[in-house]
Amino acid sequence: IRDDLVTGVQTCALPILYASRAALNTLVLQGTELDQLSLTTVVENYPGFPEGIMGPKLIRDSRTQAQKFGANYEMEKVKEIAAGKAKSMFTTNNPNELIMEFRDDASAFDGKKRASLAGKGAVNNQFNAFIMDYLGDNGVDHHLINLMDNTHSLVHSLDMFPIECVIRNRATGSICRRLGTEDGLILDKPLFEFFLKDDDLGDPLINRNHIVSFGWAKDDELDEMISTSHKVNELLTKLFADSGMILVDFKLEFGVSNGKILLGDEFTPDGCRLWDDETLEKLDKDRFRQDLGDVIESYHMVAHRLGMQIKVD
Ligand code: ADP
Ligand code: TMP
Ligand code: ASP
Repeated sequence: IRDDLVTGVQTCALPILYASRAALNTLVLQGTELDQLSLTTVVENYPGFPEGIMGPKLIRDSRTQAQKFGANYEMEKVKEIAAGKAKSMFTTNNPNELIMEFRDDASAFDGKKRASLAGKGAVNNQFNAFIMDYLGDNGVDHHLINLMDNTHSLVHSLDMFPIECVIRNRATGSICRRLGTEDGLILDKPLFEFFLKDDDLGDPLINRNHIVSFGWAKDDELDEMISTSHKVNELLTKLFADSGMILVDFKLEFGVSNGKILLGDEFTPDGCRLWDDETLEKLDKDRFRQDLGDVIESYHMVAHRLGMQIKVD
């Protein structure tokens, strides 16, 4: 039994905050209507933001603030719309939001190698939220709304581009096979590459001409994805370096919500390569790809080094 029920999430940000701050049990029900705030890119009439604030950011921050005081946002999986190799996506009762579930499934080589690794979903979900928060605090717009529990996150529903954006600081993996490059070679400049997201074709390398000609994305959208990827590289190279790790390479996916390009999917040790900066020991999914063992232990070690407190069950 609750003392207070509030509906109409975004428009009721202040009442929700007052109620939860006053220690009333606050249950926030999700509306089914399209709410104005999540459709607004720059909100210019909200008190306290003379320069304006992005609608989705305002929603996210208001929710985080109310949750700090104990507000309980009712969020339910309605229908599974995608079961990927490592995550499942569910609709919610808000048409603009999805629940992203990180499962314990591990996959490599475009699904040719698979296993279940206990605890992977939990560490990756919380790892991703930590990194997305860090990126968001540093000006990168992303889809994460909030962490729901150990293995679930609430995200903005995106219309995903069917492409993968890869940045490499050192050569390893597919580029060495492709170009015969020495493994671990430090590149003179971070290298950006596009891949087509298509497991059956083995995610082939493509260039922007393919993307534009086939209509997968437009030129200006590609410019934005490239510059955001470089910005992510600068931010995360430093973040990992400060904790004794080399960010060797990584993959990002982007999508569109209300006409705006947001970083989607995930940033976890599943989609990047991280090496210890002294021993060059691999701390990422290459441990699974190459049967090096201690996969989840390594993910936890990386999380611990970055100061994350990962909760398991
Ligand atoms: P894969 O497709 O590589 O097997 P996953 O198991 O990670 O990948 O599944 C997650 C799927 O959800 C991917 O296809 C990804 O592109 C998609 N996705 C990620 N974030 C969003 C989002 N915010 N909205 C819609 N789809 C998303
Ligand atoms: P690659 O060396 O296999 O091309 O991978 C480059 C980086 O991108 C590496 O960190 C792994 C990541 N990646 C994925 O996470 N998923 C993919 O489907 C691909 C092709 C790469
Ligand atoms: N991400 C792809 C997969 O899960 C490729 C890889 O990581 O090796 O199969």
